[in-house]
Amino acid sequence: MRPRDRAWLEIDLGAIVHNYHVVEQLVGGHTTVMAVVKADAYGHGAVPVSRALEAAGCGFFAVATLDEAVELREAGIGGMILILGCTPHECAPDIRRWRVTPSVMSVEDCAAFAGAGAEGPLPVHIKIDSGMCRMGVRYDEIGQFCDGVGAISGLAYEGIFSHFASAATDPDFSNAQIDNYLAAVAVAEQRLGPFKWQHMCASSAILLYERAHFNLVRPGDLLYGMSEDLPDCNLPPVRPALTLKSRLRLIKPVRAGECVGYGGTYQAAAGHDIGVVTIGYADGYPRLLSNVADVLIRGMRRPLVGRVSMDTIVVDLGVGHDYRLGDEVVLLGSQGEQAIRAEELAQRGGTINQDIVARMGMRLRRVYKE
Ligand SMILES: Cc1ncc(COP(=O)(O)O)c(C=O)c1O
Repeated sequence: MRPRDRAWLEIDLGAIVHNYHVVEQLVGGHTTVMAVVKADAYGHGAVPVSRALEAAGCGFFAVATLDEAVELREAGIGGMILILGCTPHECAPDIRRWRVTPSVMSVEDCAAFAGAGAEGPLPVHIKIDSGMCRMGVRYDEIGQFCDGVGAISGLAYEGIFSHFASAATDPDFSNAQIDNYLAAVAVAEQRLGPFKWQHMCASSAILLYERAHFNLVRPGDLLYGMSEDLPDCNLPPVRPALTLKSRLRLIKPVRAGECVGYGGTYQAAAGHDIGVVTIGYADGYPRLLSNVADVLIRGMRRPLVGRVSMDTIVVDLGVGHDYRLGDEVVLLGSQGEQAIRAEELAQRGGTINQDIVARMGMRLRRVYKE
């Protein structure tokens, strides 16, 4: 590690490749795995992650934006890249230039992207809103959509997909979404011909709704070794890939009755030592974790006290300890026998694990392990 690194990420690419193969095995040979690498591969680094996955045989990648797709193409990723989000119509020439596959969600999208194929029709995936009421063509308006695109040529409707709103928490609604999606696919297939790719499942749905695996699945969480809390469901043997580290840079006492940090939100009941660790919310360590998270030092859990500041946090080192300046501090990941998982931080901060990992900032150096 460089002496000047205040905080850094260690990423285990071997774990991500292992997790990819675990998902492949889980869904079986008839279903292909599309790696969701949006948001810089959930903070793990889209280019190194995609390169490692491509070398392991992955040929399908999903991103949220055209910029994310271009970043992968510039890095030499040759597989199919699907943009899951809305692509501005002005970007049609870039879609052609970079050979990326947009999602289409309206007749206007289709008109704008028609003819943007580099050679022949442009492959697109139709996004169906099966009940989430966010992106996509409403499942009950697929007929009007097909009417509207009837006169538009220059597109190849290669795929059709949807997304669950509450896969982990609402089986009735999720099953209704699958039915809505299937009804829309039946209409679209009649009008536009067969689709090569059908997909609906992100990580939780892969584990819970086998009937919606179709021939393509889109895991993010599972690839990075994370999972939502799914009662009655065995988590496959995926491994977390991300370790967030910093160092102890200042040790000093706090006296009984004194308060720590902005707003004085922690008051010491008795005197003890505190340690300043050089990571803060500007690095992506969430302010939501103020007063609620633990960190690992010398293989032991120590509680974070006071608010997370922009560049630092403070931890309670206790009394009579043998912590030393420069000790490595693990904020996410394992040290010795102890581990802090993204799921734990998400639960303590009242958020979801993607929100913990995807916000890891540009100030953190990323160190990759094969
Ligand atoms: C459309 C779509 N598909 C797949 C995923 C992957 O989700 P997960 O990380 O839960 O597997 C996402 C993530 O937000 C998404 O928006």
